[in-house]
Amino acid sequence: MSLPKQVKIVEVGPRDGLQNESRTIPATVKIELVERLADAGLPVVEAGAFVSPKWVPQMAASAEVLAGVRRRADVSYPVLVPNLKGLEAALAAGAEEIAVFGAASESFSQRNINCSIAESLERFAPVIEAARAQGVRVRGYVSCVLGCPYEGDIAPAAVARVADELATMGCYEISLGDTIGVGTPLKAQRMVETVADRLPVERLAAHFHDTYGQALANLFAVLNLGVASVDSAVAGLGGCPYAKGASGNVATEDVVYLLDGLGIDTGVDLATVAATGRWISERLGRTPASKVAQALAAKAED
Ligand code: HMG
Ligand code: MG
Repeated sequence: MSLPKQVKIVEVGPRDGLQNESRTIPATVKIELVERLADAGLPVVEAGAFVSPKWVPQMAASAEVLAGVRRRADVSYPVLVPNLKGLEAALAAGAEEIAVFGAASESFSQRNINCSIAESLERFAPVIEAARAQGVRVRGYVSCVLGCPYEGDIAPAAVARVADELATMGCYEISLGDTIGVGTPLKAQRMVETVADRLPVERLAAHFHDTYGQALANLFAVLNLGVASVDSAVAGLGGCPYAKGASGNVATEDVVYLLDGLGIDTGVDLATVAATGRWISERLGRTPASKVAQALAAKAED
């Protein structure tokens, strides 16, 4: 399989990026972030999560964010939903796409959503069915596909099982999450090949965190297997509150630079994403984790 000609980038910064922040970020800032990212040409911008505010306080204003965003017709704004209560709230806020999130690791499933993998799938079934009945598209996440903070190595077959079940229940795409960024390229390829034995590779997305600096290498490895949907976060924001030590997602700026260099079309404007990364990083009081963003900033100062 050769490299895809086009890749869809799913921007997860406003959700995965901000869910772990200790300081409260005003909804107005989140709304502006989502709008800027959509204006940069990102076709999908994950806008929030309808989860328990006791579990993830930073996502508590997701209804306000979703309701406040000036939506573009060519952009999708999915939100995370763990159960029927979350679905109800997401629909009330005008969600047109949701994502359910499971895991390939039992311990992570317990810590993240307080139930076993089997229970989570039972819980997702009516959520997916009810969403689809209302014309709402459903994406599915599988966490810990290349390792778990509590269990260590995870068998690719365990990933494939959960991915297959989510797809069978009606998720149009399965995002494979290296939640703690421990993967390396050959491991990532073996995992994707195992999942692709059950599902067409066109239905798979790569969601790689960059904790060990391997995310771009892992992405290149799975792009070569035909994966053409990539999750990333502007400025490399993020982490998961239930995966201690996990750092941010691979930075959108770095992914766009890589794909531009490979001649792969994304429709995303690097300069606009980089400016957005600088803008949100200033609001968070830090510099963008993206190497590309740092290089572009240094060049601009010359
Ligand atoms: P639980 O405590 O088992 O749920 O949590 P419960 O049904 O017993 O309810 C407990 C309380 O939460 C009740 O309120 C419910 O009303 C409320 P109380 O009566 O105590 O006042 N509640 C809710 N409130 C708002 N929205 C809801 C909702 N559901 C219940 N939807 C639950 C189970 C799933 C709710 C909880 O564990 C939870 O919210 N977990 C979310 C964790 C999370 O968001 N993690 C980060 C996202 S996943 C991730 O980052 C990985 C990913 O990026 C991929 C990767 O990198 O691998 C996607
Ligand atoms: Mg994540």
